[in-house]
Amino acid sequence: MSLTLLCLYTHRYSLALVMTLVLVTASTDDSSPPTNITAVLGDTTTFRCHIQKLGSPVIRMYIQRVIKDSQEIFINGFDSSRKLDVHPEYQKRTKVNRTDLSMELTNVSISDEGLYKCVVFSDTMDKEMPKIHLKVTANYRVPTMEKKCSKHGDGAAGKSCQLSCSSVGGYPQSAVKWEGLNLSLINVIHNESSEDLYSKTWTINQTIMYNCDQPTNVSCAVEGAVSPAVSICEKEPFSIEVITAIVVVLVIVLLIILVLVWMKFCRGRSSTARSGDDEEVSVAFK
Ligand SMILES: *[C@@H]1O[C@H](CO)[C@@H](O)[C@H](O)[C@H]1NC(C)=O
Ligand SMILES: *[C@@H]1O[C@H](CO)[C@@H](O)[C@H](O)[C@H]1NC(C)=O
Ligand SMILES: *[C@@H]1O[C@H](CO)[C@@H](O)[C@H](O)[C@H]1NC(C)=O
Ligand SMILES: *[C@@H]1O[C@H](CO)[C@@H](O)[C@H](O)[C@H]1NC(C)=O
Ligand SMILES: *[C@@H]1O[C@H](CO)[C@@H](O)[C@H](O)[C@H]1NC(C)=O
Ligand SMILES: *[C@@H]1O[C@H](CO)[C@@H](O)[C@H](O)[C@H]1NC(C)=O
Ligand SMILES: *[C@@H]1O[C@H](CO)[C@@H](O)[C@H](O)[C@H]1NC(C)=O
Repeated sequence: MSLTLLCLYTHRYSLALVMTLVLVTASTDDSSPPTNITAVLGDTTTFRCHIQKLGSPVIRMYIQRVIKDSQEIFINGFDSSRKLDVHPEYQKRTKVNRTDLSMELTNVSISDEGLYKCVVFSDTMDKEMPKIHLKVTANYRVPTMEKKCSKHGDGAAGKSCQLSCSSVGGYPQSAVKWEGLNLSLINVIHNESSEDLYSKTWTINQTIMYNCDQPTNVSCAVEGAVSPAVSICEKEPFSIEVITAIVVVLVIVLLIILVLVWMKFCRGRSSTARSGDDEEVSVAFK
């Protein structure tokens, strides 16, 4: 039921009827779905309790955190007739604006996630706003990827690669996505999530086995964060052993040629030595 209607009724009917209507209004708002707001870890967020067309000025406003259905914690607010007791933790981190009925919360942490509600009081009525659900997110760091590739043991073509992807510092919990791979050929061998007890952020780590016979560029992603691409199963024109073998053969061939040339030279030289006495004479004359 809208407030305008409520005012109309106020003029036309008895106070008793108005009181029941107020109760009805309050319970209707209470059960309506919460408004969602999202904040990034460490940022500042604003809870807005602004009510349109509230007949008389607001004299009190409470912003409370709803822990369970019946359990609520007072966060901050104002009361035009007295000073409110605010928990020191929230005293530091919250600021209430009486003009637009909002509250700013700074340095949002993951434990701030949850349900809140505003209760607004004026001379004529109390009004409970629809609840506000604060969702907190934290961005995952750019994932790191490691690869370990080896030839198939059974001598089949292609390679078998073990790929590990890990990312830290995100919230909520998420999962690793692989890009560039045929998803139906992925074999997950290790999947791990761990929560940091202090910051409540998640570290996730997944290791897969992947067989490939085509060169592939692969990267892994966690939410918006994508690792640099890594090439797997590159075509290696010659393996180290083949190159070593070629070098050894070349060296041997070169040695044989050298030996042959040397032998030929020596044979030629010994024959000239046998038939060339003039040479020895010329040497003797020096
Ligand atoms: C708030 O988020 C919840 C899920 O987190 C969703 O079911 C609901 O519809 C959202 N409410 C609004 C008003 O968007
Ligand atoms: C309160 O909100 C109004 C309207 O948004 C703004 O003009 C004013 O500067 C705010 N006051 C404070 C103390 O932040
Ligand atoms: C924000 O909160 C975290 C703990 O939740 C604290 O370690 C950090 O010092 C706070 N930062 C500021 C600027 O207050
Ligand atoms: C993925 O691998 C499966 C099984 O080998 C094959 O049937 C399918 O066509 C492949 N998909 C793509 C996109 O290559
Ligand atoms: C890995 O763990 C995450 C979080 O526990 C889960 O969401 C995901 O489905 C798991 N993936 C596999 C392939 O088991
Ligand atoms: C992820 O898991 C793999 C396999 O258990 C491990 O080798 C690697 O060190 C882990 N990485 C991180 C950052 O925890
Ligand atoms: C992989 O990336 C490299 C460098 O960006 C590129 O030259 C190559 O063509 C890519 N290979 C495939 C199979 O996409």
